[in-house]
Amino acid sequence: MSSNAGTIQFEQLTVAFGPAARTVIAVEQISLEIAAGSFVALVGPSGSGKSTLLRAAGGLITPTSGHIRVGGRSATAARLARQVSFVFQQPVLLAWHTAQANVEVPLRIFGWSRAERQRAAQQSLELVGLSRFAHAYPHQLSGGMQQRVALARALAFAPSVLLMDEPFAALDEITRERLNGELLNVWAQTNATVLFVTHSLAEAAFLADEVVVLSAHPGRIIARERVPLPRPRTAEMLVAPELLACVARLRLHLARSFAEPHGPP
Ligand SMILES: Nc1ncnc2c1ncn2[C@@H]1O[C@H](COP(=O)(O)OP(=O)(O)O)[C@@H](O)[C@H]1O
Ligand SMILES: [Mg+2]
Repeated sequence: MSSNAGTIQFEQLTVAFGPAARTVIAVEQISLEIAAGSFVALVGPSGSGKSTLLRAAGGLITPTSGHIRVGGRSATAARLARQVSFVFQQPVLLAWHTAQANVEVPLRIFGWSRAERQRAAQQSLELVGLSRFAHAYPHQLSGGMQQRVALARALAFAPSVLLMDEPFAALDEITRERLNGELLNVWAQTNATVLFVTHSLAEAAFLADEVVVLSAHPGRIIARERVPLPRPRTAEMLVAPELLACVARLRLHLARSFAEPHGPP
């Protein structure tokens, strides 16, 4: 696989929903290039098209106009080539499967042999620190652990692109901060590009190389902020002046976008 397999390019992407008379423009004229192996966060109010952008990058929706390329291919081709993977807000684990069996679900769908599935699932559970819980059932795991199983499942087939839609939003703040640190450790051990949606500006700035700010109705890029913090990121950086200043700039971009009229809804 080429080292650019994880490049994501949005080119003048517009996605509209609904019949002509009552069309909702979810995202409009989005142009954005995300380098392979980078970590980019998307923030914006509800309805700013964050999930739409992720689903478009994952080849799950067809653009109304414009293009998305993942590793130089169409997003659909990249999905079919198993180059992209998703983590959602809910872990969506099968209750009657162990953690390991849950991680194996996509591998089973892909037709991997039993031995290949087991090896990949065990490695992936180890990556997220859950080897000891491979044989536990979801109800025996905390919410944070369940979400780590979902992450292991998403990474088991070594995708080039990991699309995460508010993956920790349902968790308490303490668990969330711990998982943010763990996610960065996991990411550092993969070559995956991460596109991460969150409502939390601090989470975005802590995790990402760059934060992309979207406005709502229609969803447009209103700002891009590079995060001036080195890696590896440490828990202390959550209160570093650079991070706080970055969060303040993000907050200002959003406040200005609310103050400006966007035309008819
Ligand atoms: N399948 C769909 N059908 C109709 N409208 C949709 C659909 N998906 C999203 N939308 C609309 O597109 C806009 C952006 O939605 P979404 O991408 O979910 O935003 P976000 O994730 O930022 O909250 C919203 O106005 C939403 O109602
Ligand atoms: Mg959403």
